[in-house]
Amino acid sequence: MPAVARIGFIGLGLMGRPMAKRLLNAGHQLRVFNRSKPPVDELVRLGAEEASSPQRAAEGADYTILMLPDSRDVKDVALGEKGVLQGAPKGSIVIDMSTISPSVEREIYEVFTQKGVEYLDAPVTGGTIGAERGTLVIMVGGDFDAFERAEPILSLLGQKVVYMGPSGSGQLTKLCNQVSVSLSLLGACEALLLASKAGLDLNKVMDVISSGAGASWQLSNLGPKIVEGDYRPGFKAEHLSKDLRITLEVAQELSLPLPGVALVHQLMKSLVARGRGSLGTQALATVIEELAGHKISESAGRLKKP
Ligand SMILES: NC(=O)c1ccc[n+]([C@@H]2O[C@H](COP(=O)([O-])OP(=O)(O)OC[C@H]3O[C@@H](n4cnc5c(N)ncnc54)[C@H](OP(=O)(O)O)[C@@H]3O)[C@@H](O)[C@H]2O)c1
Repeated sequence: MPAVARIGFIGLGLMGRPMAKRLLNAGHQLRVFNRSKPPVDELVRLGAEEASSPQRAAEGADYTILMLPDSRDVKDVALGEKGVLQGAPKGSIVIDMSTISPSVEREIYEVFTQKGVEYLDAPVTGGTIGAERGTLVIMVGGDFDAFERAEPILSLLGQKVVYMGPSGSGQLTKLCNQVSVSLSLLGACEALLLASKAGLDLNKVMDVISSGAGASWQLSNLGPKIVEGDYRPGFKAEHLSKDLRITLEVAQELSLPLPGVALVHQLMKSLVARGRGSLGTQALATVIEELAGHKISESAGRLKKP
């Protein structure tokens, strides 16, 4: 990796913005593109250059990183008019860090590698906190040589960067992660619902569960927000719904039943249908509360002191 790498960065949302900032702070040259202007202006104030299109962001870059919502967005930005494919130099590496369909990722990989541009799928887990602190876990699919060349840049964003296999393997790993995330999120919501209805002290319940076999990232990080009714997004509900849709598509291709995922997907779809898709995933609790006719924050036990 050059001491100062030229990096195109496309998609400056909840995750992309802090990730791009970390790369700037590490001394690299960034050219950024986003659909809306305000996050671009913010990065330009910090020293990045504005690109007028994905093509311009990729021109002259050693690496071009994408952090976009869904498969269609990545396909448009990568292969569409004035897309990354038009600008990325031969020998450069395009790294898609969004969570999208593994088969779409493989299609895009084929197009880029035919042009002599490396292409990796490198989705992440660890949330916006991980993006800010550079503690993401990054799972990578694609050619191993390209992985080795991209690793120094990825290590600025993540504490753990793992090569998972050929193109699409990063996305497949991420879907497995989302199976675990979604079911433990539902578990956290239902545990808090039961505790609340039973009148227990919710802070004590969270402390006890988090000290034993029921502990989970979802309960520790999102439990307190559910109790407080704080639904501001770290990870948007519509994105988890999208991830579970993709997971079920892959399961369908493999003739695999995933009943737990199907259930959480239906509940997430209900959340999105109620206009709450841009809230954080912890807003799943509101659907569970509506089914039960009981609000978790209304627990008499919530206010009990130890
Ligand atoms: N948030 C998390 O905790 C988390 C964790 C792990 C993985 N992920 C995954 O990471 C990806 C990004 O997540 P996020 O939370 O950062 O999403 P987000 O907040 O919705 O940000 C997406 C960004 O992409 C931009 N964008 C959308 N379409 C575009 C296009 N065609 N051209 C250029 N820019 C475009 C959006 O622009 P606008 O400003 O116009 O909306 C927005 O800035 C998703 O695949 C998500 O599933 C998220």
